[in-house]
Amino acid sequence: MRTSSHTRVFAASLLIQSILAQNATNSTAYDPLQYVDQLIGSSNGGNVFPGATLPYGMAKAVADTNSGSNQGGFTTDGSSITGFSSMHDSGTGGSPSLGNFALFPYNSCAGDDPDGCVYPKKGRAVPYVNSSLKASPGYFGLQLNSGVSVDMTAAQHTSLFRFKFPANSTSSSSSPLILLDLTDLSDSRQDNGTIDVDAATGRMTGNAKFLPSFGTGNYVLYFCADFQGAPIRDNGIFANSRASADVKSLTISRSINGYPLPGGGFVRFESPGDDDILARVGVSFISSEQACSSAEEEIPSFDFTTTQTAAETAWREKLSPVLVSTNGVQLSALKNFYSGIYRTMVNPQDYTGENPLWQSSEPYFDSFYCIWDLFRSQMPFLTVIDPVTVARQIRSLIDTYKHLGWLPDCRMTLNKGFTQGGSNADNVLADAYLKGITDGIDWDIGYDAVVKDAEVEPYDWCCEGRGGLDSWKSLGYIPVQDFDYKGFGTMTRSLSRTLEYSYNDFVITQIGAGLGGRESDVEKYTTRAGNWKNLFKADQTSSLPTGVDTGFVGFFQPKYLNETWGSQDPLECSNIDTNPNSVCSLQNTGAETFESSIWEYSFFVPHDQATLITTFGGPAAFVERLDYLHNQNITYIGNEPAFLTVFQYHYAGRPALSALRSHYYIPAFFEPTHEGLPGNDDSGAMGSFVAFSMIGLFPNPGQDVYLIIPPYFESVSVTSPITNKTATICNVNFDSTYKNVYIQSATLDGEPYTKNWIDHSFFTEGKELVLTLGATESTWGTQVADLPPSLGTYEGFGNSTNGTMTSKRAVRFGAEPINLLTEKTGAKYWAQNEG
Ligand SMILES: *[C@@H]1O[C@H](CO)[C@@H](O)[C@H](O)[C@H]1NC(C)=O
Ligand SMILES: *[C@@H]1O[C@H](CO)[C@@H](O)[C@H](O)[C@H]1NC(C)=O
Ligand SMILES: *[C@@H]1O[C@H](CO)[C@@H](O)[C@H](O)[C@H]1NC(C)=O
Ligand SMILES: *[C@@H]1O[C@H](CO)[C@@H](O)[C@H](O)[C@H]1NC(C)=O
Ligand SMILES: *[C@@H]1O[C@H](CO)[C@@H](O)[C@H](O)[C@H]1NC(C)=O
Ligand SMILES: *[C@@H]1O[C@H](CO)[C@@H](O)[C@H](O)[C@H]1NC(C)=O
Ligand SMILES: *[C@@H]1O[C@H](CO)[C@@H](O)[C@H](O)[C@H]1NC(C)=O
Ligand SMILES: *[C@@H]1O[C@H](CO)[C@@H](O)[C@H](O)[C@H]1NC(C)=O
Ligand SMILES: *[C@@H]1O[C@H](CO)[C@@H](O)[C@H](O)[C@H]1NC(C)=O
Ligand SMILES: *[C@@H]1O[C@H](CO)[C@@H](O)[C@H](O)[C@H]1NC(C)=O
Repeated sequence: MRTSSHTRVFAASLLIQSILAQNATNSTAYDPLQYVDQLIGSSNGGNVFPGATLPYGMAKAVADTNSGSNQGGFTTDGSSITGFSSMHDSGTGGSPSLGNFALFPYNSCAGDDPDGCVYPKKGRAVPYVNSSLKASPGYFGLQLNSGVSVDMTAAQHTSLFRFKFPANSTSSSSSPLILLDLTDLSDSRQDNGTIDVDAATGRMTGNAKFLPSFGTGNYVLYFCADFQGAPIRDNGIFANSRASADVKSLTISRSINGYPLPGGGFVRFESPGDDDILARVGVSFISSEQACSSAEEEIPSFDFTTTQTAAETAWREKLSPVLVSTNGVQLSALKNFYSGIYRTMVNPQDYTGENPLWQSSEPYFDSFYCIWDLFRSQMPFLTVIDPVTVARQIRSLIDTYKHLGWLPDCRMTLNKGFTQGGSNADNVLADAYLKGITDGIDWDIGYDAVVKDAEVEPYDWCCEGRGGLDSWKSLGYIPVQDFDYKGFGTMTRSLSRTLEYSYNDFVITQIGAGLGGRESDVEKYTTRAGNWKNLFKADQTSSLPTGVDTGFVGFFQPKYLNETWGSQDPLECSNIDTNPNSVCSLQNTGAETFESSIWEYSFFVPHDQATLITTFGGPAAFVERLDYLHNQNITYIGNEPAFLTVFQYHYAGRPALSALRSHYYIPAFFEPTHEGLPGNDDSGAMGSFVAFSMIGLFPNPGQDVYLIIPPYFESVSVTSPITNKTATICNVNFDSTYKNVYIQSATLDGEPYTKNWIDHSFFTEGKELVLTLGATESTWGTQVADLPPSLGTYEGFGNSTNGTMTSKRAVRFGAEPINLLTEKTGAKYWAQNEG
């Protein structure tokens, strides 16, 4: 046995040497930027920002459309262009964010009079030429049907737009006009927008107050626009639909009709001939002066090529830690992969030096939108490929706690966003802490911040912290219709909040134990981390909307203050909930689960899968339930709670099924097309799901655990930007048709490795994981000793659970074919193991 496995290892290592050698040659041979397609998710609700930005850049330039789904500014759904603005979020739900101070060009105005141009956003929208659309890292461009071509690039706080007017407007009578509109995408402008136009230079400065798109409060944004390329003919302001070159300053009210009155400025040029007209727009949350000085520093000479090249270089550097073997894989796989990685670094945005709310020398990041989405895989992904930035983001979160009293759960445009469930910044901090992110972080204060989430209820927990903490501490769950007179928030989601708070309390123990000297805290929060058990109702059944019993018994249920059970259909708010009256988001009448069902939330015990498995009746029953969740479309991969469920088979000793599931969802639900995302990208959450899945390691966030499946490439290498060491995963017997997705055996740095998970030292120490693949499920990673850590102990594995589910299988599955996982090999495995 020993000899033969040694021989196998040796043979494999020769093979690896050759794969690595060849791959190394190829790795250096490609530019990852060629595989980035920013237009993925630009329709069908992906809501991505597809424009020009630096990694984490504040200035984000793109064409805005009048689509009903223009949260990211631009869309490819046939909508028309309303302008070109400089600030955006990416992938968000809620109202559209930002999109402030749009520019819009005209070849000329009717009657050669500025008053002859159309100013209001609604009236000026114009289609664009589909074939003219181009986007690449640091660049976006298209041609309007009016014949004006507009392309753009960006620096950190400055956008640069290049307007090319059509040849037929170069006659002596033509006189292009560019307007600047004191508006934003969601028309949220408040009193009093202002603009001043400098008569001599055409420089426009000003500011306006707007509302955040998924939160409370407001924000003021300042701008500074300069123009170059043709002599200025005249300039002035517009209000509503009238314009005049005689007026150079405007302060405009919101108006009383619930719609911000159109207003802004314009510059008219002498005919530019063949020359471009450039518009440079600096933005700032501090002042117009700061907007101007950023613009002057960042793009001093309006040099488009230099600015674009700098952006490309920045992106290339950010994407460069990850290289894959391109051998045999489809171009679409490479595009899915690198575009996903790219999107993880569009948001959060680096507003360091732009925070008017408090004085600090700490970094300031914004657009954590929202941490309920980001904690699951986007933040962990950045921890792998950009730990230096993650350290700055963590410092910003902690600094936000220091100055506002709480860690944010969601944050945009300097405001508190709505909390969706738990205090999930706790998970982000724990994840980074466990993975050794230290750089400049005061972890003692970080610890205070997560403990405050667990102990002190905010008066207004709409937007930070947790609600119902008295009940949490005394009853061990969040009651439905809680009596909470200390803090106020939307009194729904009692069940999903209980599950999330349980996990939040668990991650506190991870930081506390690591820091030391906090033994009693660790004990207390370990106990509270088990609170999820208090809502498990062992005799709860569940039927499909058709009335057919799912056959599964035992689900979480809501519970009242008096400790009697409430009731929620386990499928309410699931992907197959057909009830038009279900209310599943943050409404006052919402369900006891947020944007998801009890069925799906049932698996959200990330820290104690062992006990959950026992609770569900053992590993075989757990696997059946997980299969049912996926096969019946109860879960939907387009929302983040689905992510971990794809990989939770690992905990039941069936890592092969995680690999199969992952291949089911990618590419079927993630394609490199405009409509290729299954839901809002939610910053880069969907992107990170794709990237981690294809690398073959998926995090259980808040723990130092990556679950192993075969990468989608023959090999993947990830170089740690901190240690400069390169971690490599190689697939021996790689099959680009993905039939061989079953790990037969593995070695880590040459030694046999049977655990189905690995920790972060894999990346920082540059280890080498070699996976030997085959066409059938094997015993690799299936033993209790191979399973990832869990708070409770694994029970019912091995021979003791054989046949546990046999009696119920017929009931559950009936005659219905279970397609995906009846995959010959899986069925064979089951047959063997279940007698
Ligand atoms: C990787 O390895 C394969 C198979 O040995 C080889 O054909 C290919 O050219 C190598 N390079 C890359 C990076 O694909
Ligand atoms: C441009 O593309 C959009 C989205 O695919 C489509 O709706 C529209 O009809 C196209 N326009 C033209 C002129 O082909
Ligand atoms: C100029 O050309 C554009 C298309 O390139 C056309 O739409 C527009 O009508 C033309 N204008 C004039 C005045 O000819
Ligand atoms: C807007 O400006 C007007 C006129 O100066 C002033 O009366 C009003 O208070 C301002 N509104 C706000 C919200 O600042
Ligand atoms: C590199 O990969 C390409 C496919 O992307 C392949 O055609 C080529 O043979 C590989 N070259 C080397 C040197 O491995
Ligand atoms: C517990 O409280 C709920 C909600 O107020 C009520 O419907 C139920 O009757 C109570 N149960 C008992 C046993 O008092
Ligand atoms: C689940 O959804 C997929 C496509 O999204 C569909 O093909 C399949 O039939 C659905 N399964 C069930 C059981 O509804
Ligand atoms: C990693 O490489 C960078 C750039 O070459 C260098 O500045 C840094 O010191 C290196 N770090 C380590 C730990 O070797
Ligand atoms: C299961 O039972 C078989 C047959 O008795 C035995 O060979 C095997 O070692 C057992 N496996 C475990 C995990 O106990
Ligand atoms: C199944 O488990 C029982 C005990 O739980 C054991 O007696 C029996 O041998 C097992 N069967 C197989 C096929 O392993």
